[in-house]
Amino acid sequence: MAVPTSRSRVAVFASGGGSNLQAIIDHFTALGPQRSGDVVFVASDRAGAPALHRAHAAGIEAVALNAKARAGGLLQELATRGIMHVVLAGYLQLIPLDVVQSFRGRMVNVHPALLPSFGGLGMYGERVHSAVLASGARVSGPTVHFVDEVYDRGAIIAQWPVPVAPNDSVASLAARVVAVEHLLYPRVVHAVCCGRIRLGDDGRVTGVPPLESAAAFSMGDYVRLRQSLDQWLGT
Ligand code: GRF
Repeated sequence: MAVPTSRSRVAVFASGGGSNLQAIIDHFTALGPQRSGDVVFVASDRAGAPALHRAHAAGIEAVALNAKARAGGLLQELATRGIMHVVLAGYLQLIPLDVVQSFRGRMVNVHPALLPSFGGLGMYGERVHSAVLASGARVSGPTVHFVDEVYDRGAIIAQWPVPVAPNDSVASLAARVVAVEHLLYPRVVHAVCCGRIRLGDDGRVTGVPPLESAAAFSMGDYVRLRQSLDQWLGT
């Protein structure tokens, strides 16, 4: 596979643990010269967020942004650093309109359920999995989507079904979903950064993995999931 001639400068926003941030850093590291981007900036709304510690440990600039910087100054923070793609990884704040508009087609989010169900304002963390369990749904799974002006509404890029077991707790379901996020999200980020996955002017996404391969997924089949994603999104 050809080595990219230029890599994207990627910013990751995270409010919490940063396990998806870590998965993205690790995936880019594993890709080596084939990687389409470098995480060069990690921002959080919480000074003590473990995601910031993960960034520090990886030698990446990590900043806790105060309310003023998050609202009015975010676009400038990104411009100053030459950021080309923004990755939301468990970021709980609404992204300002000017940033959404400037990064249309260049900003993605991961949500821990199959949108458009179980999403929207206030649907994050354990609340999502609680709602899935309360609904009686037999399938959940992560959704990766482009970000637009409304929480969890942007064009869907990729989803992967994860079974809901009859005896699932919020914790067991969350663990099953996030394990798939760690496989899916870094690969989608790579594919978006290298332009393989795109948001068209008509609002449609091109270059996405086909859903047929998702239908074959069964519990514990993470190796096949990874192979299938690598086949379609490239490494
Ligand atoms: C993930 O479940 C993701 O779907 C949601 O927030 C969580 C972030 O987890 N948007 P982590 O901070 O990456 O561990």
